[in-house]
Amino acid sequence: MANVAVIGAQWGDEGKGKVVDWLASRADVVVRFQGGHNAGHTLVVGNQTYKLSLLPSGLVREKLCIIGNGVVIDPDALLSEIARVRGQGLTVTPETLRIADNAALILPVHPAIDKAREEARGDRKIGTTGRGIGPAYEDKVARRAIRVADLAEPETLSAKLDELLLHYNVLLQGLGVAPFSKESLLDGLLKLAPQILPYAEPVWERLDELRRGGKRILFEGAQAVMLDVDHGTYPYVTSSNTVAATAASGSGLGPSAVGFVLGIAKAYTTRVGSGPFPTELHDDIGQLLGDRGREFGTVTGRRRRCGWFDAALVRHAVKVGGIQGIALTKLDILDGFSELKICTGYRVNGEFVRHLPAAPGAQAAAVPEYETMEGWSGSSYGARSWADLPAQAVKYVRRIEELVEAPVTLLSTSPERDDTIMVRDPFEG
Ligand code: GDP
Ligand code: IMO
Ligand code: MG
Repeated sequence: MANVAVIGAQWGDEGKGKVVDWLASRADVVVRFQGGHNAGHTLVVGNQTYKLSLLPSGLVREKLCIIGNGVVIDPDALLSEIARVRGQGLTVTPETLRIADNAALILPVHPAIDKAREEARGDRKIGTTGRGIGPAYEDKVARRAIRVADLAEPETLSAKLDELLLHYNVLLQGLGVAPFSKESLLDGLLKLAPQILPYAEPVWERLDELRRGGKRILFEGAQAVMLDVDHGTYPYVTSSNTVAATAASGSGLGPSAVGFVLGIAKAYTTRVGSGPFPTELHDDIGQLLGDRGREFGTVTGRRRRCGWFDAALVRHAVKVGGIQGIALTKLDILDGFSELKICTGYRVNGEFVRHLPAAPGAQAAAVPEYETMEGWSGSSYGARSWADLPAQAVKYVRRIEELVEAPVTLLSTSPERDDTIMVRDPFEG
């Protein structure tokens, strides 16, 4: 019996939330291990729609949920999200949600510096969510982060805030932003502390126990491999490692605990924010994909850029992310297209390459090489078995499997939880 790690195989918003919610019925515990409230996961269950950012998607199935040490936590955002989902009838208590006591916090200075830096970048902006994710990870690596456990020690908070503001107030003033006062930050944290601390614990210990007790762990990734700080389209990436290996380090387990790695990929490609996107479509087809796929960022509300399925990109993600099976989502959005294109590699300065190169200039110069497939006239929307799919849609899926060098083990055909075709149970390894 394996555990399962779910990660994005493109640039995010592949439908990880839907897949994690679906798989959660087979799991005992769901763990977030990286990212923060830059993530936006939409789950549709009957006539209810849940939008989760920081809370693991297992919450909707009333599974034990854990926020691991690899996540950066904005305590204000966490408490508002808890209040919001409680308003929708979900239960969140210190019995159902546990938070790593060694996770780093996002403080109000972080979004302030994130936004000020983006503004200063002008045309070269990354298009961040402005939620302070990058600066919070920088502080963690720089060893000046305030962590969850620090909330129990007012003197520690006070000393760490001194160090933090020494760093940030100079920067903020240089960028023309008002500095922060230590008193107001300290006051804010001391008020939040009693609301956050009941959820805090060394989650690695609980996870170790669960694991030894034979419980099934589902790791929920945020963002995606092409936004990974090492393997993605740097510098247009997020500030964490999004590959499956992070599921171990970001939750306090060894690498063998991760289990089966399921990569989620949309049947076409989208991206929020700036950076290279070789198969992007600026024409009516791109517009149609965006309209039919309702491609608006859950967090930013920005329209997502849309393009053809990039098999070279997903193959790259399969290799560096350790992906063993693909969950292909949003196949239904391609219903009715007379022809479809799949990118198999790129031409960079006249030379054919199978994967995007690392240098930004070469990435920007990459021109996709396509193969064209016939579309289908029937409907795949809501299909729950292979037999329900148009024959040409099955051919499209089969071709994707060949090109990305990984089997499609799950297929999603609508936003609704149960409109899912399982080819192979990832928990069976
Ligand atoms: P995540 O960030 O990877 O969890 O993805 P998001 O939730 O941000 O974006 C995916 C969007 O597509 C959500 O609105 C989902 O409800 C929706 N979705 C997921 N799977 C499917 C599918 O198979 N078909 C359609 N039409 N929509 C889907
Ligand atoms: P989910 O989990 C899509 C993008 C931002 C920006 C870049 C860096 O819903 O798939 P950041 O705020 O992280 O410093 O922004 O990463 N980004 C996402 N794009 N889905 C996400 O999460 C994203 N999280 C961050 O748009 O380009
Ligand atoms: Mg999303």
